[in-house]
Amino acid sequence: MIVHNAGGIWGHTGAEALAIKAGKICDVGFADALRDKWQAETELDAQGLLITPGFVDAHTHPAFATGRAEEFDWRAEGADYLEIAKRGGGILSSVAHVRDASLDHMIAICTLNFKRMLKHGTTTCEAKSGYGLSLESELKSLEAIKVGGERAGITVVPTFLGAHMIPSEHRDNPQVYVDLLCDEMLPAVKEQGIAKIADIFIEDGAFDIVQARQYCQAAVDLGFELRVHADQFNNLGGVELACEFGAQSVDHLEALSDAGLECLAMSDHTFAGLLPTVPHFLRQKVDAPARKMIKAGVKYFIGTDFNPGSSYTPSLIEAAHFARVRLCLSAQEAIHGVTAGAADSLGLGESKGRIKVGHDADLLLLNLPDFFHFGYAFGENPVVKVILGDKI
Ligand code: NIG
Ligand code: FE
Repeated sequence: MIVHNAGGIWGHTGAEALAIKAGKICDVGFADALRDKWQAETELDAQGLLITPGFVDAHTHPAFATGRAEEFDWRAEGADYLEIAKRGGGILSSVAHVRDASLDHMIAICTLNFKRMLKHGTTTCEAKSGYGLSLESELKSLEAIKVGGERAGITVVPTFLGAHMIPSEHRDNPQVYVDLLCDEMLPAVKEQGIAKIADIFIEDGAFDIVQARQYCQAAVDLGFELRVHADQFNNLGGVELACEFGAQSVDHLEALSDAGLECLAMSDHTFAGLLPTVPHFLRQKVDAPARKMIKAGVKYFIGTDFNPGSSYTPSLIEAAHFARVRLCLSAQEAIHGVTAGAADSLGLGESKGRIKVGHDADLLLLNLPDFFHFGYAFGENPVVKVILGDKI
C-alpha cells in the first residue's frame, strides 16, 4: 500500500508518500518514485491530514472490573487519595471486584479498554495488572490483558504489578506479602512467561523503600525489566532506587527531589514517566518538574496512567494536552512523549513510535492543520484513521 499525502509525512521534510509492505514501512519519499518502485495495489490519499506514528501509551492499568465513579464525589467533598483508600475506596476496592470477576468478564473489560485507546490513536500500550494482588487474580488479569489485546488488535506489553498495594489479608503483616511476591508470585509469572516487566508502587500506604529493594532485587534476579511508580505524593527514595536497578522508567514524579532529578539525569537507561492527567484528576496543585528534567537531559515519555481511580482517560491526546498546559511542553516535545520517547522506554524503539523504514506501519491520520495543533484542542478526538500494517 502507498499512503500519499500532499501535507507531508511527520519527521520527513519534503517527503509526500510512504510505502507499506508486509506490515512494515518499506520506503518514504516522492509519490511517483514510490509508485514506480513498489507497484502497490492500493493507495490511500491522506488529503492533507497530519500523518504521525501510532501513539504508544507506556503506562496504563486497564485490568479493572468496574469503575470507581463514587470516589469522584468523595473527592469533591474534600477527601484526598489516601483518605479515599482509608474509606474503603481506592486500589483495594478495585482488588475486591477483580477477585470476584470471572476471566471472561476481565477479558471483556480489557478488550473494551484497548478499543477505547485505539479509537484515540494508541496502537501500542503497556498494560499493568495490579488489581488482583493474589497469584490467581494477577494471572487472571495478565491473561485478560493478553487476550484483550489480541481481540482489540492493539500491541500490548504486559507488566506484572503485584506490588501495587498490600492486600487486606496481609495488612497486619506486610512482610508476609512481600515474601510471597518475591518467592512465589514473581517466579510463577516468570515461569508462565506472561509478563517480562515487574512494577511496584513506592509510597506511604503502599510499599516502603526496604520492601521495594527486596522486590526489585528479586525481580531483576529472575530477569524481569523494572518499571516503578515513585514520588507521586511523597519522596521515599524510589527514584534513586529505580535508577540504581536500571529500571526502564520511574513514573509520576510530582514529589521529585533535586537528588532524584540528578540521578535521572545521570542515568542513561531510566526514563521519566510524565502522567500529567493524574494531578488534574486528583485536584492536586503540584506537577512533575518536567521542564527542569528536560533541561537536565532526562529522557521522558507521556502516559495516560489510564485507571479507574486517578486518571480515567484512555486518550494520549488528552494527556498530551495536559503536558502542554501543566508541564509547559512544546507541541514537538508532546508528540515525542507519546511516540518515540514512549517506545524507547519500553525497549521498542526499533519497531514502534517512529515513521522509519523497517518500522511497523502503525500510523495515524489526524485532523490537525499542522503539528503545532497537537495537544492544543482538548475534549476532541482528531484521529480520522488508524493504519495497522496493511489494515486501515
Ligand atoms: O498509577 N499510583 C498508583 N497506582 C495508580 C492508581 C490506581 C488506582 O487508584 O486505582 C496510579 O495512579
Ligand atoms: Fe500507574
